[in-house]
Amino acid sequence: AAHLLRLACPANLHFLAETDSTNTQAERLLAEGEHTPFVVVAGRQTAGRGRRGREWFSQDPGNLTLSLALRPQLPPARMQTFTLWMGLSTSLAINELCGVSLKVKWPNDLHWNGKKVAGMLTEARSDSEMLRDLVFGIGLNVNGVTDEYPPEVRRVAGSLREAVGRVFDLNETAAKLICALQKACDTFLEDCYRETFREQWPLHDALTGQEVTVSLADGEIVGEYLGIDETGTLRLRLPDGQERQFAAGDVTLRKQ
Ligand code: BTN
Repeated sequence: AAHLLRLACPANLHFLAETDSTNTQAERLLAEGEHTPFVVVAGRQTAGRGRRGREWFSQDPGNLTLSLALRPQLPPARMQTFTLWMGLSTSLAINELCGVSLKVKWPNDLHWNGKKVAGMLTEARSDSEMLRDLVFGIGLNVNGVTDEYPPEVRRVAGSLREAVGRVFDLNETAAKLICALQKACDTFLEDCYRETFREQWPLHDALTGQEVTVSLADGEIVGEYLGIDETGTLRLRLPDGQERQFAAGDVTLRKQ
């Protein structure tokens, strides 16, 4: 399938049947001086990583795991909305592909019908106030999460196949996704994404009108979701009427 992908999308592409984690592999290639942007796609990950040290199960050959690597030369603060924008762009691309509207669940998930269909992991290193390396990884459940999965996984995880009721060509889906992610990166780095973001975010925001629980190191806070601000920070109205804000790195989140 690798050569078909290469034809369909312009990215400098590393296709591996198996790797530990496409994010880790991308970091290794960055360290070796590989020319950016490039994409690492793996058929299987043996040590897929999620946020906050969690594992990302990626033995299922029906799903996609890939990472996009950049050297953005921007101050880290400019990247605050990057993952949300990449998630939104993924949702728009999937909508074009099959008509399904995935919702972006702050800060790094894509949901359909309340189930997680994709997770994103952005990892960056900076040098004296400037970003040096940036790796954006996404795991998208395409044909996987089948009936053989344990019920506790099926309760929380969904897939495009489940959403649309048909099996997807993984190669075509990967090509569409990679092209969309590359375009999304370009518009982000050129700072031309804001208008589309402002317009489309409310239509794809998974938390609109929800009560959410924020888990902090020292306990949990429940509040009414008020949206995000222009830096991608989550705004909550607490039961006492006060507003409180949370940056993505500080919290895990669950719907009530
Ligand atoms: C999460 O839900 O916490 C984020 C999951 C991110 C998984 C993707 S799969 C491709 C890339 N490589 C990894 O090891 N993780 C990301």
